Amino acid sequence: QDTVALVPAAGRGERLGPGAPKSLRHLGGEPLVVHAVRRLATASSVAAVVVAAPPGASETVRELLAPVVMTAELIVVEGGDTRQASVAAALAAAPGHCDIVLVHDAARALAPPELADAVAAAVRDGHPAVVPVLPVVDTVRQVTASGSSTIDREALRLVQTPQGFSRSVLAKAHAECDDALTDDAGLVERLGLPVHTVPGHPNALKVTRPFDLVVASAVLAAEGG
Ligand code: CTP
Ligand code: MG
Repeated sequence: QDTVALVPAAGRGERLGPGAPKSLRHLGGEPLVVHAVRRLATASSVAAVVVAAPPGASETVRELLAPVVMTAELIVVEGGDTRQASVAAALAAAPGHCDIVLVHDAARALAPPELADAVAAAVRDGHPAVVPVLPVVDTVRQVTASGSSTIDREALRLVQTPQGFSRSVLAKAHAECDDALTDDAGLVERLGLPVHTVPGHPNALKVTRPFDLVVASAVLAAEGG
């Protein structure tokens, strides 16, 4: 129980289409953020969860999550204009006793607790930055103004969350880098530190477009039995 999980959940979900902020949209009768936080809070390494809620929705999110988080401390803050700002706000509110920090997208609502524990364990083993990855199954083609060419997919990986960091490294990465990146490992990489990879999980898919909700519903149904 040395780990705090930060959950950026403040995005609008524009690619999902009109409606509530994405983390409050429902999957199998519950908001995405409830699914995501329940699984994190169940992970045996996780002592605390800090959620960056959509602007104006902190109280709503706190009320949704209070009955769900029994085995970890729950903190809810307001998120920012960018994912990076939301992670920074959550990090600032993280309890001081946690040396390992996971950052997990609310949009990856069905990532299993075992994945969070595996990432945290790799940080504990001495890797300052850890990302779960999956192999690329499609053939990948790079398109430029002058034409297109196949890229060797053997060397490529798709990056998921939860990503794990030693707290000091994540704090330094956020303090020193203000480039607009889509994940936190990218910030750590800018510091010149190595990013370790562990096997990801198909259930950690990110709900981005309406099609992903269809897939996630099927995953949830399969989980239930
Ligand atoms: N996120 C956040 N604060 C923001 C933007 C994003 O906390 N200002 C979070 C989202 O809530 C999500 C995660 O970062 O859990 C990954 O972002 P993404 O999948 O891009 O979600 P959205 O930004 O909500 O979606 P879109 O880009 O389609 O608007
Ligand atoms: Mg986004």
